[in-house]
Amino acid sequence: MDDSDYTPEQWDAALTAAEATELDRVAEAGIRPGKLDDVIGQTRVREQIALLLEGARRRGSAPDHLLLSGPPGLGKTTLAMIVATELGVGLRQTSGPAIERSGDLAAILTSLGPGEVLFIDEIHRIARPAEELLYTAMEDFRVDVIVGKGPGATAIPLELEPFTLVGATTRAGLLTGPLRDRFGFLGQLEFYTDAELEAIVKRSAGILDVAIDDAGAVEIASRSRGTPRIANRLLRRVRDFAQVRADGVIDKPVASDALALYDVDELGLDRLDRAVLRALVSTFGGGPVGLNTLAVAVGEQSDTVEEVCEPYLVRAGLLARTPRGRVATAAGWRHLGLAPPNTDGLFETGNA
Ligand SMILES: Nc1ncnc2c1ncn2[C@@H]1O[C@H](COP(=O)(O)OP(=O)(O)O)[C@@H](O)[C@H]1O
Ligand SMILES: [Mg+2]
Repeated sequence: MDDSDYTPEQWDAALTAAEATELDRVAEAGIRPGKLDDVIGQTRVREQIALLLEGARRRGSAPDHLLLSGPPGLGKTTLAMIVATELGVGLRQTSGPAIERSGDLAAILTSLGPGEVLFIDEIHRIARPAEELLYTAMEDFRVDVIVGKGPGATAIPLELEPFTLVGATTRAGLLTGPLRDRFGFLGQLEFYTDAELEAIVKRSAGILDVAIDDAGAVEIASRSRGTPRIANRLLRRVRDFAQVRADGVIDKPVASDALALYDVDELGLDRLDRAVLRALVSTFGGGPVGLNTLAVAVGEQSDTVEEVCEPYLVRAGLLARTPRGRVATAAGWRHLGLAPPNTDGLFETGNA
């Protein structure tokens, strides 16, 4: 649960959002909200889910299938776990890429107990045959298992217990229509406000048993890119700094010195974000440049650049996605301490 077993080099690497998942999983377990009431922010989605669960509870049936979408670290896995907890049922967890053959999925589905929750993370990456199996499973609680090959093959229908599927995706747009249509609830998670992140930082500090004042929490919150996972990660790094280099209390100077040491700038951009922005500005003259070209320039997968870096760069108004490619906004140039070129058509604000 504690993350102090990792070397500074590992943590350094983990500060690049793309590489963080494995280390985060361990460190996050203790501070993940366990009930709907512990969830901070996402008021709309939270209220909608509460209603969905209450309705199902009153009818004594399994609630509709839920699809949760949004950038990494906003609470999709947390909410999936909470759905099972609030319903008082078991949770089975898998992911789109982990389901290699449709038989694997059939085995999971037939082993579900009545009313249980099946959580499929990264559901947009599920293979097509498994996806097709999901259609009848979601709609009629039935799977057709094909026995034999060729003309002699027969489909044997297997009844399933009623269950609730929770799908999570960073890319709702990549889901096929038939799959998306079978979800009764589509919840889109939004980036968090600084005030919400401040509350999350304070709650986590309480659980980690580290003293923090208001200004210290504000400092961490404002550099967290609207993302609870990053807020918690920065808090853990600042905690180390406070305990080793200061008197153990996180105030504003401690937070800002610690974050400077870890290469997190005032907007919360980390090295990869800045590398993307710098490549865009310096190598490609501010763009427009295609996603793949940009990704190659920073030595990253284009998926990572698109799903992890860009949403926040766009939201911060530093980068714009245009039909011709990625473009640095005037604010993007200025953020790197450079004067934007005086070009017509340069995006003054890239806020989406
Ligand atoms: N609404 C929230 N309130 C408090 N903490 C949150 C909230 N959403 C997420 N977190 C924290 O952020 C971490 C990442 O959330 P997670 O559900 O794993 O994100 P995702 O699955 O969308 O990538 C969790 O461990 C949890 O501690
Ligand atoms: Mg997740």
